[in-house]
Amino acid sequence: MATDEEYTGSLKQQLAKLFEASLRATVPNELDVEPLIAACNPRFGDYQCNNAMSLWTKIKGKGTEFTGPQPIGRAIMKNLPASEMIESCTIAGPGFVNVVLSKQWIAKSVQKMLVYGIETWAPKLPIKRAIVDFSSPNIAKEMHVGHLRSTIIGDTLARMLEFSNVEVLRRNHVGDWGTQFGMLIEYLFEMFPDWEVISDQAIGDLEAFYKASKQKFDTDPGFKERAQQAVVSLQGGEGKYRKAWAQICEISRRGYERVYQRLGVQLEEKGESFYNPYIPGALEALSNKGLIEESEGARVIFIEGKNIPLIVVKKDGGYNYASTDLAALQYRLNEEKADWIIYVTDVGQREHFEMFFTAAKRAGWLPADDNMYPKTSHVGFGLVLGEDGKRFRTRSTEVVKLVDLLDEAKSRCKAVLIERGKANEWTEEELEQTAEAVGYGAVKYADLKNNRLTNYTFNFDQMLNDKGNTAVYLLYAHARICSIIRKSGKNLEELKKTGKIELAHPDERVLGFHLLQFAEIVEEACT
Ligand code: ARG
Repeated sequence: MATDEEYTGSLKQQLAKLFEASLRATVPNELDVEPLIAACNPRFGDYQCNNAMSLWTKIKGKGTEFTGPQPIGRAIMKNLPASEMIESCTIAGPGFVNVVLSKQWIAKSVQKMLVYGIETWAPKLPIKRAIVDFSSPNIAKEMHVGHLRSTIIGDTLARMLEFSNVEVLRRNHVGDWGTQFGMLIEYLFEMFPDWEVISDQAIGDLEAFYKASKQKFDTDPGFKERAQQAVVSLQGGEGKYRKAWAQICEISRRGYERVYQRLGVQLEEKGESFYNPYIPGALEALSNKGLIEESEGARVIFIEGKNIPLIVVKKDGGYNYASTDLAALQYRLNEEKADWIIYVTDVGQREHFEMFFTAAKRAGWLPADDNMYPKTSHVGFGLVLGEDGKRFRTRSTEVVKLVDLLDEAKSRCKAVLIERGKANEWTEEELEQTAEAVGYGAVKYADLKNNRLTNYTFNFDQMLNDKGNTAVYLLYAHARICSIIRKSGKNLEELKKTGKIELAHPDERVLGFHLLQFAEIVEEACT
């Protein structure tokens, strides 16, 4: 097992330490000046220190011996402690110090990375526990591509934080509570009197079931009334209603579990219903802070700069999405002691998150300063579009079923593999496994490579292309590397002990440098 000694921080952090020492020597009286290290134009070097300009603004006219930013830059360069990390430095423009890293040092560091393992290069984040609230479909409604994006992005964030040694609670905040259940339960009771035995068949196709009950709700006033009564019975905890509710949830759950299983995503469900008992306490706490007001029969929180208030108790006295989120936030902070709570939903919900985050800050649940912990973040994402530039749907204008989508990715891959004669070389199992890895990988990668906030067009042909920036190409490259290693006949474990990495070709230096930037890239992505 590697120890902390082997990893001394990302490249930026290591350079920052050197420049920090130099800054203390260059301007001993400016103790609050922190080193500013940034990537630099590769024509001039690998990194640069950008302190000279702002330092000059800070100290000029205060009796300094320096005559401008350039001389400050030169002094910063001169005062750098000797280090095997740096090959050379130059001054550019108004005092930028460009740094070229030593090739030998890069080689040595890559070797350490290989010997001690990439885990030892995990960034150190200032938090212990995070909650990633993602996927979070709504019961009795089919999961749609938006939930797929949330699942993929949320899982990726969770993996990066876990890699960085943060304990992550992966929360599925499913929509398993609310007035729609009155309608569903009442419909179940009326249409399937023997529902307790046959509920699986009755609601096997949950979406169809939802639609049929909604249709009745909208057209049959008597049913509507009975459905509203059913909500009251459910929320009052009546046995039969709770049981029907639990069954509907279970059937729905089986559906989305299938998607998670295929994608290799772990999630722990704590749905909206879980927080229901905590809502009155949370609202009381907010009320005691004077945040809740009466408005048009509802109870609301007014947020500065927003036209409409955040409704926390509806006119009919019922709770809603926002009251649940406030109770969940209080629970996550106080009971689960999360330092960072991350919510992954489409950008359309940004306003909702901004509003209840602000309410929580005003209540003193969260520090007002966004750079302090505990903190909350909304990670939004754009829509998934079809070829027609509209929201991604199938021909029948239904939302696309995720399972079908994953099936298609897989079967397309399998077809290509068969076309290439793999059916003769591989077992059926190998064929299946490869088609899954490539197909599901392609869907994930196509999502992640896009700008998170913009809409993107879902296109099988593009994501399954074996050339270009796709998962297929990456997997292919990986397979080739494995084959090179295999054909070399060398024992890697042996090489790690006895071999020595040398970066002879310029491309090798570029590659080595790229590998060493891993830690700061992960850190940047996390933060
Ligand atoms: N169920 C919601 C939806 O489908 C997403 C929930 C996100 N999480 C949260 N704590 N509000 O839009």
